[in-house]
Amino acid sequence: MSDTARRSHILNLALEQGLLHEEHAPLVAFLDWERVGLNVDHLLRAFPTDIPVLHAFAVKANPLVPVLARLGELGMGAEVASDGELSAALAAGIAPERLVFDSPAKSWGELRRALGLGTALNVDNFQELARVRAILGETGSESEIGIRINPQVGAGAIAAMSTASAHSKFGVPLRDPGVREQLIEAYLASPWLRRAHTHVGSQGCPLPLIAEGVNELVRFADEVNARAGYAQIRTLDIGGGLPVDFETDNPISAFDDYVAALEEGAPRIFSGDYEIVTEFGRSILAKHGFIAAFVEYTKEVGGRRVAITHAGAQVATRTVFMPEAWPLRVEGFNPSGAMKTTAQTAVHDVAGPCCFAGDLVARGRELPLLEQGDIVALLDTGAYYASNPFHYNSLPVPPVYGVEFGDGTAEFTTIRAADLVTV
Ligand SMILES: Cc1ncc(COP(=O)(O)O)c(C=O)c1O
Repeated sequence: MSDTARRSHILNLALEQGLLHEEHAPLVAFLDWERVGLNVDHLLRAFPTDIPVLHAFAVKANPLVPVLARLGELGMGAEVASDGELSAALAAGIAPERLVFDSPAKSWGELRRALGLGTALNVDNFQELARVRAILGETGSESEIGIRINPQVGAGAIAAMSTASAHSKFGVPLRDPGVREQLIEAYLASPWLRRAHTHVGSQGCPLPLIAEGVNELVRFADEVNARAGYAQIRTLDIGGGLPVDFETDNPISAFDDYVAALEEGAPRIFSGDYEIVTEFGRSILAKHGFIAAFVEYTKEVGGRRVAITHAGAQVATRTVFMPEAWPLRVEGFNPSGAMKTTAQTAVHDVAGPCCFAGDLVARGRELPLLEQGDIVALLDTGAYYASNPFHYNSLPVPPVYGVEFGDGTAEFTTIRAADLVTV
C-alpha cells in the first residue's frame, strides 16, 4: 500500500466512524503508531550498542502524554524544557533518571523541582550555575548536572532554528574571548559538574555542521578531563536536530546518516570514554502524523482558487508565519476519503479559518481541483503541529487519534480529545 493509500484508508475509516465529520469534527490529526515504532527501532539500532546511549525525546516536539508514554515503552527517555513538559513526561511514566531538563530560563521553582526529583539538568549560563550551586548547598541532589555550551560553529538554513550562531541566546558562548577558560575553571571548581551539552540547531542545520558542534563539545570535555586529571565529565548530551525530509514519503529518518556524520566529523564521541544522550524531536514523529481538514468553502479570487479549510495557523503555526522555511505537502481527498484524481487541477491557495490574510498553509500550489466538502491532508505534521496548538480566534483544539494497523484494517485510540478554548 502506498503512503497516500494508507492515508486514504485512515480517512475512510475515520469518516465511517464519525471521528472526522464535516459538521462535528472538521479538523482532526492522526499519528501512525506502527510507523513510529519502526522509526524508533531504527534510531536505537543506528547508534553503537556497546556504549550507553539515552535517547531523550524532545517533548516540545509533541507533548501529548500518551505519545510520551508510547515513546517511553519503545525505549526512549525525554528532554523537557519547562515545568509543564516535566509534568507531562512524569505523567507518561518516564522515570526521573531518564529525563533531561534544558531551558534557557529555568526559574528557581523549576530548578528546585528538577534537582529534587534527581533529573539530569543542563545549566544554560553562569547565573543559573550560581543558583544551582546555592540549591545544592541547601538540599543536595542526585541529579547529574552539566552546562550547555554554544560551540559557535555557525547557523543553518533557518536562522530561527540555529542555536550555534555567534549571537545565539542558548548556552555559554565557547568562542567569545576568555569564556572557554572561565568555563573550564567553573568545571574544575565544581566536581559535581559531570556532563556537558550542546544542541547545534534543528531543521535546516546540515549534518556536518551538527558534527562540528559535537566535535567542539568532545574537545571541550577532553580538555576539562585532562586538566582535572580524571574523567570528571562522563556524559555528553549532543542534542537533537536531525533534519526531516518534508518532500517525500520516506517514513524512516536518516539516523544512519547522522551517526555516519558523527563518525566522520566527531569520531571521539564514540570512543567509549563518554556516555551519550541525544534529544531528537522532529525526526522521531514528524513523518508519522498528518492533519485532515474539511474544505468548508471555495472561491475564485484574482484568478486563483482559494480553498478555505479548518487547518490554519492554530495547527500549522510555523508554516503560516514562515512559509518559506516550513513548506508542507498538501493532498486532496474526496468527501469519502478517496484520493482525488489529477484529471482536473488548479492553482490553489489553501487557507485556514483564522481571521488574518496570511493564514495560508499553501500558496499558489497546483493541486487536484478542491471543492466544497473535500478533505485536505497536511503531511508530515506529527511533530510541532497539531500537538502544539496556537489559541488564535479561540479556535477549538482538534482531537488527535493514534492509528493502529492490523488485519487489513485500522483501530483508533484517542491521544487527545477535542477541546473548546473558551478564554
Ligand atoms: C535543546 C534542544 N534539544 C532538542 C531539540 C529538538 O530538536 P529537533 O526537534 O529538531 O530534533 C531542541 C529544539 O528546539 C532543543 O532546543
